[in-house]
Amino acid sequence: MDPVRAERLSKKYGNFEAVKGVSFRVGKGELYALLGPNGAGKTTTIKMLSTLLKPTSGDGYVMGYSVVREPKEVRKVIGVVPQDLTADDELTGLYNVYLQARLYGYSSSEAMERAKRALEIVGLTESAERRVSTYSGGMRRRLEIAMSLVHDPPVLFLDEPTLGLDVQTRRTIWDLIREFQKEGRSLILTTHYMEEAETLASRVGIIDLGVLKAEGTPEELKSKLRGDRLYVELYSDEDANALVREMTIAGLEVKGDSSQIVVSMQSEEVLRKVIGLLNGKRVRSINIVKPNLEEVFIEITGRRLREESFDAFRQRVFMRKVR
Ligand SMILES: Nc1ncnc2c1ncn2[C@@H]1O[C@H](COP(=O)(O)OP(=O)(O)O)[C@@H](O)[C@H]1O
Ligand SMILES: [Mg+2]
Repeated sequence: MDPVRAERLSKKYGNFEAVKGVSFRVGKGELYALLGPNGAGKTTTIKMLSTLLKPTSGDGYVMGYSVVREPKEVRKVIGVVPQDLTADDELTGLYNVYLQARLYGYSSSEAMERAKRALEIVGLTESAERRVSTYSGGMRRRLEIAMSLVHDPPVLFLDEPTLGLDVQTRRTIWDLIREFQKEGRSLILTTHYMEEAETLASRVGIIDLGVLKAEGTPEELKSKLRGDRLYVELYSDEDANALVREMTIAGLEVKGDSSQIVVSMQSEEVLRKVIGLLNGKRVRSINIVKPNLEEVFIEITGRRLREESFDAFRQRVFMRKVR
């Protein structure tokens, strides 16, 4: 039996359907990443599976319990690290975790013991007696993780666990998450960082506009893209549109995104054809990129994961080439 099953989960806020019949399964010791941009429906999906929101239709099962019919049972077997952090700033880290353990019904001595153990796991023993208001962003995130662990749950939900953290801090959180997976827990994490999904996940679900668009191991998803991606950037949208038409007529597999064009390099002939078509045109840049999950996302949705500025995007592509 898979520890987590989402079965055609849907959620409407008024008339707006934020999640549209999402189904997936997560095995024991598996890390499933829901990867998608802001507004894709990741948090809504996590909230339904962790009983914080009632589905409009469909159901989810955690360790065999229905989130709709047996929410109390579900809550006993899950830990949740929410996107919006919940620790009380005015209390110490230790007291926050202790209170959480008391909520699970442990006696005060057992709760204290469990709180200390959880803080040790996340490396906050030294800062346990400090007020949370003095914690850094990374420490707060680790505190939330400790709070989600006090009852030693077999299933853990992490909603954007490294959102806004610097690279170094993100790595320490990644190490923790890997440990939980090694212990045999099932983890579901949401992210809009493709590196995060790519490094941590045993399987990735790509979600966009409330729909699960594709699913597989990072390798499986990338192998669906045939060949490297060739990015061509021109100076205007008009020029780009004209070039996309010429490329399509020439039989190339091509996608346009404002003044930027993406061509699949399925064969060596593609490069020759592109160079021929660019002859005499004003070209701003050309880059060749090995496919990663960002490219998979673009292929599936025609859009980027992050609404980042064009220059930041170019820089990223450029950096990856240089490395
Ligand atoms: N309480 C709410 N009321 C109305 N719309 C909401 C509410 N919460 C989320 N939404 C909308 O539902 C969609 C999905 O949101 P969310 O699940 O938070 O996405 P994500 O976590 O992937 O960014 C978004 O368009 C968001 O604006
Ligand atoms: Mg969210």
